[in-house]
Amino acid sequence: MTSPALPRLFGDAYAAQPHVAIDQLRSLGPVAWAEIDEGVHALVVTSHRAALDLLHDTATYSKDARRWWALNNGHVPKHSPVLALMGWRPSLLYADGATHQRLRAAMDDCLGRIDLQELEEITRRHAATLISRVAPLGTVDVMADFADTVPLMAFADLLGCPQEVGARLVAACQGVINAGPGAGLAAQDLIGCLAELVGLKRHRPGRDITTWMVTHHAQLSDEEILNQLFVVVGAGTIPTAAWIGQSVRLLLSDEEYSRSLVGGAVTVKRAMEQTLRTHSPMAHFSVHFARHDTVLHGIQIPAGIPIMISHQAANTDPALPAETRGARDHLAWSAGPHRCPAVGPATRIAQAAVETILDQLWAMRLTDQSVPNRPGPFHQCPSAVSATFKPATAAALTAAASSGGTA
Ligand code: HEM
Repeated sequence: MTSPALPRLFGDAYAAQPHVAIDQLRSLGPVAWAEIDEGVHALVVTSHRAALDLLHDTATYSKDARRWWALNNGHVPKHSPVLALMGWRPSLLYADGATHQRLRAAMDDCLGRIDLQELEEITRRHAATLISRVAPLGTVDVMADFADTVPLMAFADLLGCPQEVGARLVAACQGVINAGPGAGLAAQDLIGCLAELVGLKRHRPGRDITTWMVTHHAQLSDEEILNQLFVVVGAGTIPTAAWIGQSVRLLLSDEEYSRSLVGGAVTVKRAMEQTLRTHSPMAHFSVHFARHDTVLHGIQIPAGIPIMISHQAANTDPALPAETRGARDHLAWSAGPHRCPAVGPATRIAQAAVETILDQLWAMRLTDQSVPNRPGPFHQCPSAVSATFKPATAAALTAAASSGGTA
């Protein structure tokens, strides 16, 4: 298990060439061992068929991270960054059976109440605010200046944050996303903001996800509500940012797309769908634990070992017929009972953001042809999407926004 030959799904070499580790994993079988952080090991499923079999087999596989043998026995470094998403919390992401159904129903109901048209308008407004800050400069890093922040601003509204709490929430999430030395403190700030928000909405309900969670007939406890909201923000913002950044990159770098950018929404939609298949924003996730020693597609799966899905490898599985590889049944949103419940809102946010930046920054050109991803095993996100464009005045931006854009 400690062999240096294990594929590594973290670090600079992986971030620079993720396909090398993924090809290596695939060559080892439908499920294979990988190192996901220094000294932290997991089994990773690369076969599309095996991934679907696992994701639908709730009798054999559990999401409960308290089953993680290495963590329980002190073999996972206390400060490993993988714990932020793999450590157990009392939320739907780590729940099975009836507990999951109860928490998931509350999540589905609350996300289902979002007015998607309004969400799109909110997103366009926030996107325009961020663009106005860089528009006179003529250069932009689409990740740092735009994609990382648009979903956060939209989420602050969805959660019903008053302005001051919203600003703190955005700053705390940015600290978590940057994963620097202040990440631990930022995560505490985020929990603090969410706790404050829950308290606030108990007294002053609004038309927002926090209020809908608080008043849901499943009668969630404060701790459950807090953790549901933590998953919404924690599981939602980074992949949405990655999806925006990677889609803009594809639209600007692929000749066929850049020629047809005047095609507007249809072209953007096509590029976004392609990104989900070829650059899954959640490259490796859907962590499970076998309830007992078992076998998956001929590979021994011991109980207590994290087994995760490479959504990236499954989507690009050469065993899939070419027509299926191009189809919409990719696994970027996962599958089975834990499939992402936010496909609608995530798509509205990402599409509105991509359309707005392309509409408002004219003649955008990438300045780096190849950039590494951000390090870490879970998300697939370019570390930067640097571009130049024709600098614009505030008046020109207003005109472009009101005409629907002409870039
Ligand atoms: C509005 C933005 C988003 C929100 C609020 C959101 C929320 C969630 C939540 C609450 C879950 C847990 C579901 C459960 O355990 O039953 C989840 C799971 C998941 N989401 Fe999303 N999500 C968002 C965007 C995205 C994006 C853009 C992607 C990638 C394309 C994505 C991929 C996934 C995947 C792969 C899972 C399964 C995780 C697992 O089983 O461990 N999500 N999401």
